[in-house]
Amino acid sequence: MIAIEKQYVQWSENNDLHHARWLSASAHLPPARLVLVDDKTTADEAYRLACAGTSMLYRGDFHNARQLLQAITRRIERTEQRSEKRRLSKAASQSIEKSKDIPNLFHQQRQTTAQRSRLLSRLLLELDADYISQLRRAPEFNKACIAAFGALDKEDKTCVLSFRDLQGALGAAGWRDKGVPIKALDLSIFPHYGVFAPTRHEYVQLLLAAPSPDDCATAYDIGTGTGLLAIVLAQRGIKQIIATDLNPRALTCAEDNFERSKLDSVQLQQADLFPTDAPLANLIVCNPPWLPAKPTSPLEYSVYDEQSKMLRGLLQGATQHLAEQGEIWLILSDLAEHLQLRSRDELLSWFIDADLSIKYRLDTEPKHGRSQDKTDPLYAARSNEITSLWCLVRKP
Ligand SMILES: C[S@@+](CC[C@H](N)C(=O)[O-])C[C@H]1O[C@@H](n2cnc3c(N)ncnc32)[C@H](O)[C@@H]1O
Repeated sequence: MIAIEKQYVQWSENNDLHHARWLSASAHLPPARLVLVDDKTTADEAYRLACAGTSMLYRGDFHNARQLLQAITRRIERTEQRSEKRRLSKAASQSIEKSKDIPNLFHQQRQTTAQRSRLLSRLLLELDADYISQLRRAPEFNKACIAAFGALDKEDKTCVLSFRDLQGALGAAGWRDKGVPIKALDLSIFPHYGVFAPTRHEYVQLLLAAPSPDDCATAYDIGTGTGLLAIVLAQRGIKQIIATDLNPRALTCAEDNFERSKLDSVQLQQADLFPTDAPLANLIVCNPPWLPAKPTSPLEYSVYDEQSKMLRGLLQGATQHLAEQGEIWLILSDLAEHLQLRSRDELLSWFIDADLSIKYRLDTEPKHGRSQDKTDPLYAARSNEITSLWCLVRKP
């Protein structure tokens, strides 16, 4: 939750005007129209209100609120399925070539996801200043909310947030407690709320397989997230590792993971790409967000890199920070190429412009569920995805 400025939501209830601090993980504005709903509200009514842009503040039973959200989700899914069928029959009647339609499909899929998130975010809950809900049968979620949204200020007596954001905070708390097992390393990584969770981590194998540069006293991990790649480097015996990230949540999370792995050799810096006051690097590893598209919410910043800003910044700045025989290990999937958001030639031209040449490349195929889902309109692109470790060095 990146709350730049505090925002408030107002509504009238029992002839009183109420107001509460507004929280939104997706940076949605406070609702312009808000009505009170309860256990008697039907799913059809709630769905109609959500589609009409009206937010609903729930009064009643917590579990009924959750069931109402599930019922709204089913209605949204049915509408999505109908429009997908219409799209398929239109494409068939106009003989639109599948491959030509891919960039449109990607943008449509993002719009559908954003619309779904807007509709689902219209069911709201009010919590008191300690994140305690007055709804009947409401469980304890104070710890998850503090981890996700931070403690509320004293003057904020209550807050309002979407049921969906509360579920996001509870899901993140679950990951943080259980961890994500990384088989190749024989350990678990504990992601925090708002930090890239390495649930698909086939690229760890690539990092373990790449031969270390001859001299490898100092390595940087740029955009460390949970700290996963820095941990791989430390396990490979690199003595000095400097990990950076722009996101302060990532730095706290990486620190937590280093402590759990009993690593005290990694230095952390909040930095835009490269660390400052650091020795030149013998190795720079970076796993930037893979898709060049505009993030639409703070939580999307680790997935989308608008106009490949991070990737190009990394390549352009690399030689200034690299020791003479140093190497860059760039982890990148080619999904952006299959989605026609970037071409291979464009990527190769960025290497050349940055005075870098390719020493070798290691590839792996993803095995995650989404790459096998034949009902996904982007199945053709996703099933052909290859994730690579590009080893780049200074041009001779
Ligand atoms: C795809 S995640 C990778 C995280 C981690 N290295 C891993 O492989 O699991 C990309 C990370 O880069 C960070 N990031 C994005 N832009 C950055 C920048 N300009 N400087 C430093 N970090 C950045 C994001 O906050 C995010 O943690």
